[in-house]
Amino acid sequence: MPIQLTWLGHGSWAISTGEHNVLIDPFLNDSPTAPINADDVEANYILVSHGHFDHVADVASIANRTGATVVSNYEIATWFASQHRVQNTIGMNLGGGVDLPFGRVKLTIAHHSSQLPDGSYGGNPSGLLLTIGDKNIYFACDTALFSDMKLIGAAGIDLAVLPIGDLFTMGPDDSIEAIKMLEPKKVAPAHYNTWPPIEQDAAAWSERVKQETAAEPVVVEPGGTIKL
Ligand code: NI
Ligand code: MN
Repeated sequence: MPIQLTWLGHGSWAISTGEHNVLIDPFLNDSPTAPINADDVEANYILVSHGHFDHVADVASIANRTGATVVSNYEIATWFASQHRVQNTIGMNLGGGVDLPFGRVKLTIAHHSSQLPDGSYGGNPSGLLLTIGDKNIYFACDTALFSDMKLIGAAGIDLAVLPIGDLFTMGPDDSIEAIKMLEPKKVAPAHYNTWPPIEQDAAAWSERVKQETAAEPVVVEPGGTIKL
């Protein structure tokens, strides 16, 4: 069965391997573009890149309803356990990986910030490098461009998910530079069109990816699915 990645709008993704359901940064009930409510998603694992509201908003309610394990940096994992009574958490830190039933999760560096909604320290923000079966999927999550993307790309990336919204993360221009360093087979945009300040023209971005890089752009609407 192919891996299915469904964009839930903004930085939120649902990955289905057929056997396991993995959520990334679920921000659903307060997102203007989410195609589904937090009460309606399934999850065995919830991966959290950093502490900002638009990435953690629905994590606790989904984890506490489904029993899903929250995987994040140590500070965020501990915060969900102590402040939101999440039963199952795995705390990690940058550069570390963990082998889980669906595949491997490695926390990669991200240049951003990570304060939690109540002001608590949220550790360092991260990207996520997932290895599921024989596929490597890299979620840059919220970040600026950085040259170590070249090293991340050395793993051989089947799909890279990059922010293109600008303002809070890299924008389209820097995403093109990121693609040149990562050299993924496919690339999908995220973290744009949620609100007017991060509106972007994904069709124009897609055309630039085709013209300026060797990657295949894959643009889906919220609710749309990418198969690998
Ligand atoms: Ni953020
Ligand atoms: Mn964000």
